[in-house]
Amino acid sequence: MASVVSVTLSCVIILVLALAATSNPIQDSFYQCLGLNSKASPIPFSSCFYTPNITSFSSVLQSTAQNLRCLVPTVPKPELIFTPVHETHVQAAVVCVKKLGIQLRIRSGGHDYEGQSYTSEMEPPFVVVDLSKLRGISVDIENGTAWVQAGATIGEVYYRIAEKSKVHAFPAGLCTSLGVGGHITGGAYGPMMRKFGLGADNVVDAKIIDANGTILDRKSMGEDYFWAIRGGGGGSFGVILSWKIKLVQIPSSVTVFTVPKTLEENATKILYKWQQVAADKLDEDLFLRVFIQPANSTKKGERTIQTTYQGLFLGATDRLVQVMDETFPELGLQAKDCKEMSWIESVLYVAQYPSTVPTKALLDGKSTFKNYFKAKSDFVKEPIPESGLEGIWTRFYEEDSPLMIWNPYGGKMANISESEIPFPHRKGVLFKIQYVTSWYESAKDSVTKHEDWMQKFYNYMAAYVSKSPRTAYVNYRDLDLGMNKYGNASITEASAWGNRYFKDNFDRLVQVKSKVDPENFFSHEQSIPVQ
Ligand SMILES: Cc1cc2nc3c(=O)[nH]c(=O)nc-3n(C[C@H](O)[C@H](O)[C@H](O)COP(=O)(O)OP(=O)(O)OC[C@H]3O[C@@H](n4cnc5c(N)ncnc54)[C@H](O)[C@@H]3O)c2cc1C
Ligand SMILES: *[C@@H]1O[C@H](CO)[C@@H](O)[C@H](O)[C@H]1NC(C)=O
Ligand SMILES: *[C@@H]1O[C@H](CO)[C@@H](O)[C@H](O)[C@H]1NC(C)=O
Ligand SMILES: *[C@@H]1O[C@H](CO)[C@@H](O)[C@H](O)[C@H]1NC(C)=O
Ligand SMILES: *[C@@H]1O[C@H](CO)[C@@H](O)[C@H](O)[C@H]1NC(C)=O
Ligand SMILES: *[C@@H]1O[C@H](CO)[C@@H](O)[C@H](O)[C@H]1NC(C)=O
Ligand SMILES: *[C@@H]1O[C@H](CO)[C@@H](O)[C@H](O)[C@H]1NC(C)=O
Ligand SMILES: *[C@@H]1O[C@H](CO)[C@@H](O)[C@H](O)[C@H]1NC(C)=O
Repeated sequence: MASVVSVTLSCVIILVLALAATSNPIQDSFYQCLGLNSKASPIPFSSCFYTPNITSFSSVLQSTAQNLRCLVPTVPKPELIFTPVHETHVQAAVVCVKKLGIQLRIRSGGHDYEGQSYTSEMEPPFVVVDLSKLRGISVDIENGTAWVQAGATIGEVYYRIAEKSKVHAFPAGLCTSLGVGGHITGGAYGPMMRKFGLGADNVVDAKIIDANGTILDRKSMGEDYFWAIRGGGGGSFGVILSWKIKLVQIPSSVTVFTVPKTLEENATKILYKWQQVAADKLDEDLFLRVFIQPANSTKKGERTIQTTYQGLFLGATDRLVQVMDETFPELGLQAKDCKEMSWIESVLYVAQYPSTVPTKALLDGKSTFKNYFKAKSDFVKEPIPESGLEGIWTRFYEEDSPLMIWNPYGGKMANISESEIPFPHRKGVLFKIQYVTSWYESAKDSVTKHEDWMQKFYNYMAAYVSKSPRTAYVNYRDLDLGMNKYGNASITEASAWGNRYFKDNFDRLVQVKSKVDPENFFSHEQSIPVQ
């Protein structure tokens, strides 16, 4: 008997010693604070609290992290990851992070180009609140709206709409694993933007947690605040819990096609013509983007450039072929290149799923690939001459795996004023360029090599793109444009990125920020500063 007691006692002592040895003050205080602040709906701690000393920490950290470049060992990791299962838990997290004077990173879909939702270059230590368990979607076809929680992917939203109606849709991103929390805060463009505008143009209400931990909706937050969160970028104004989106009406059948052209097939001339028609002349039912990559020529040992035209037309093949014959015959589109399908099938086509994958795969909410990448963006207002294109080809041959995607503007995009929401890239933009270079090795010199190529290429492009300021898309976050070191950049410092992402809307964003978050609680490398 006595020996049992002493064994038990020594176990307790060992346990206490072990706890003391591994205990981390930030984690423990956060844990306690959360418990105190979530009495109304208790937190199941064992299933939503991940600290680095437990084995599932890395898999949860990596789960939705899209850019492997932001997961290498030298990049700072969170003190803990919290995955709330109730909106009040998110409120508690905001209150506790503030109380402990640490930093908050919010993650919805994890697609941030610089990993800002799960890493931080700033002091002090940070925690990640990952909203992936808050992914409810409720579609109201009768009223043409839906409420979608921040942790849902855009692919799940599309699926849930299509499940209820063949003629309703939502105009947002092409990549189906984007989280609606981060995606819509920055704009959210996709293949229906020329007809309906951005995702953020089609938001009618929202629920957000402000810096005091209060849940607000459109009415209680007011129109200035509501303006700022539709395009002003994630992580500056509060935690979006859900959006109320306005559905759009589409035909029950749409048409898609993919047509590749190499240099031997006059790719340069055709691309020059595309720049003149894609925004200003092509029917707004048509979205025709171009992928540009180096490829092997059919001539042995020689390289070429492949331009791949991918189209989505909100109508039937006959009319599409007619539109193309009248406006862009150079591409030589024929009826046999075209496929008619439902909109939800076109979502998978555009996202480049293999044709055998069923639409239900969207409910997995998972990304289909991951790699190490560095990306940048530009907006173009004048066609790039053929000599400029030739210069691009030469530089593309110098890099392992470069890619550009050119997205046409015009249509509805040109009809919405620059100040309607914070996203300012509207009338006069012919197309947006996205530059990507990707690789698969984690070594530091590999990162440097690819980043250097990207910077040189970006410098070359300066002559051909928007100027004063040279603009960029906030959802293609690029820390090379400038960053906060301590979260307290002055307005002048922050305009280095603010003016490029938001043009004249930056000033209004600063005003709203100063009013709703005067203590600058929601800050990150490129957050909106306070006055
Ligand atoms: C493969 C790929 C394809 C893409 N395709 C498109 C496209 O077709 N169209 C397009 O417009 N963009 C596209 N993007 C860019 C994408 O819109 C942005 O990266 C967007 O921020 C992703 O949102 P997220 O929730 O997935 O990311 P996260 O990394 O979770 O968040 C992004 C930013 O928003 C903040 N944030 C996240 N959730 C919230 C929230 N609930 N409240 C407040 N702030 C929050 C984060 O802290 C972070 O700063 C693509 C990105 C990738 C990697
Ligand atoms: C991990 O660390 C936290 C915070 O200090 C502590 O509460 C927890 O008991 C530890 N878990 C394990 C399995 O060691
Ligand atoms: C449509 O919206 C109105 C007002 O917001 C609401 O009263 C009604 O219940 C909604 N219709 C359905 C089918 O939910
Ligand atoms: C390329 O253009 C030239 C002249 O403009 C034309 O003669 C030739 O047939 C075209 N080549 C292809 C493959 O379309
Ligand atoms: C192109 O050719 C090179 C050398 O022959 C080969 O290593 C490479 O895999 C080819 N690339 C593609 C995309 O086919
Ligand atoms: C844009 O405005 C023009 C001119 O007012 C109009 O003809 C066109 O239908 C509008 N397009 C969209 C998509 O709103
Ligand atoms: C920001 O904070 C850092 C560290 O606290 C401080 O050194 C710096 O002067 C501050 N910068 C501004 C613009 O306030
Ligand atoms: C937050 O709380 C403080 C102190 O109670 C108050 O002064 C401030 O107005 C609140 N902020 C918001 C945005 O409600």
